[in-house]
Formats: sequence, C-alpha cells, structure tokens
Amino acid sequence: MNDRLHALLEERFGAPLSAPLTDDLPDAWHMIAGRGSCRHFTDEPVSGSLIETLCALAFCSPSKSDLQQRDIILIEDERLRTVLNQLLTTGPLAQEWISKAPHILVFCGNNRRQRQIHQIRGKPFVNDHLDALFNPAVDAGIALAGFMQAAEAVGLGCCPISAIRNEAQQVSNLLGLPDHVFPVAGLALGWPKFPPRITMRLPLTATLHKDQFNEENISHDIEAYDQQRNAHRPIGAQRDVETHGEVEAYGWSEDKARQYTKPEREHFGAFIKSKGFTLD
Ligand SMILES: Cc1cc2nc3c(=O)[nH]c(=O)nc-3n(C[C@H](O)[C@H](O)[C@H](O)COP(=O)(O)O)c2cc1C
Repeated sequence: MNDRLHALLEERFGAPLSAPLTDDLPDAWHMIAGRGSCRHFTDEPVSGSLIETLCALAFCSPSKSDLQQRDIILIEDERLRTVLNQLLTTGPLAQEWISKAPHILVFCGNNRRQRQIHQIRGKPFVNDHLDALFNPAVDAGIALAGFMQAAEAVGLGCCPISAIRNEAQQVSNLLGLPDHVFPVAGLALGWPKFPPRITMRLPLTATLHKDQFNEENISHDIEAYDQQRNAHRPIGAQRDVETHGEVEAYGWSEDKARQYTKPEREHFGAFIKSKGFTLD
C-alpha cells in the first residue's frame, strides 16, 4: 500500500480509492495527485532555455493523426505584455493576478498549416467542417497539459488562462494570428510562492463510467461533493451576492450555477467564424 499517494488521492476525491496501490509507484504520480494551479509567483524569472525545453516537451504529446495542429506563442516583448495585461485585468471578467505572472504563453489551435500543406502538395482540402476547429483545439489542450506536467515536475507553477479568449479578436490582432489560427488558452508560468494546494474533484462515481454513461446518482454525488469540499476548503467569497443573496451553505455547485447565470465569451463563436472556420 502506498500511503502517500493514497492520502493524496483520498484528499482529492474525498474517499479512498477502492483499487489497492502497491509501493513501487512512479514519483510522477505523487506530483500529479498533489498538483494545483499556481497564481502567486516569486519575482525570479524562468530562463529562456528552460521555457523552450518545456515547449519542446509539450510538443512531444500526442496529436490527432500526427497533424500537429497546435502552436505556442511566448510573450517576450514587454510592451506587448503590458497591453495583454491591460486586456486581462479590466472589464467584468478581470483577473488581477495575471499581470504579476512572470511569463505568459498562449496555446493556439492551428488548422492553417494543414491548409498550407494542401496548397503545397496541390491537393484539395475537403475537411472544412467542425473537425477543422475541434481537432486543433484538442491538440492545443493536450500540449497545454503536457507543458504543465513538465513544468510542475521541475517545481514550476502554472495556471491556464481562458481569459485570453475574453477579447479574442484583440488578442488575435496583438499576436498577429492569421485565419484558421486561434487562441485556446493562455498559461501563466513562474516559480511558485507557495506549495500547490489540492482542489477536490468530483467523486469517480460521478465522472468514471463503466460501459454505459450513468448519471443515476448525480444529485446525491453533487450534494456530497459540495459538503466535502466545504469541509476541506470552503470557497472564499460568494459570487454575485447582489443578484443571488448570501446563503449559509455555499458550495461548488452554487458557485458554478451562479457563474453561468452570466454570459462568458458569447462572442467567441463569431470570432471563430471570422477566422474562416465553417462549423457545420
Ligand atoms: C482551459 C483552462 C482555462 C483556465 N482558465 C483560468 C483562468 O482564466 N483563470 C484562472 O484563475 N484559472 C483558470 N484555470 C484554472 C482552473 O480554474 C483550475 O484548474 C481549477 O480551478 C481547478 O484547480 P486546480 O488546477 O488547482 O486543481 C483554467 C483551467 C483550464 C484547464
């Protein structure tokens, strides 16, 4: 029985795993089980060579049909960073912490290269439908996860930033993104000020299905998760108290329901279409 991993997974899911864990487990599993997003960094920069190595490791991750439809943009220019900071730290979805992150990268889906290959090879491109967007978005997400795992393995802290898509058109203009290239997520990177904290996950009874999709116990699972999360680490501040009031038992589900009573990125579809994608 591997007590450390067992304890981490129990903290993460609120119950011990039913599968027994042996002692000869890779250290990487402890890192994965204990990881957490980082939004507070020291002032120490990360060396350019380390960031480049992490990008290379990110691109080692799998890619749909080996099409490699994802790119990373490193923000190095200080003036560009200042403008990006302004975009991300103003407006209703502003996130102040981002401006203090030592480094920002932007993970993009890139379906343009595939179309260029068709031109170069003189072959028709006949997959101008939803897959042209979906596959690059998934590829970029996988690369993002690969980058984070590699970064966290050397003690770096990371946090993905969907807010990069709040003003997708402006971000696209700033980064010079051409047609069929789009931002999927930003990533904040730096040396963490604090060790990672575990955010609990829904129990496997809700998210792991065997043979058939099953949501029989969904209400119970969510209620139990709310309670366990509150006992573990309650959500700090209640969201949008003016609209929804203050409630005694404020859990994850109340927070997420409140979050999505407000539109987020409702213009993203129009932006994607403006990049030349047909979503049929
Ligand atoms: C695609 C993606 C976008 C995210 N965007 C943001 C963001 O804009 N701001 C933020 O603070 N966290 C963002 N996060 C981090 C999540 O909030 C975080 O993963 C979640 O709260 C769970 O916490 P943990 O990563 O510490 O386990 C994002 C995560 C993902 C995967």
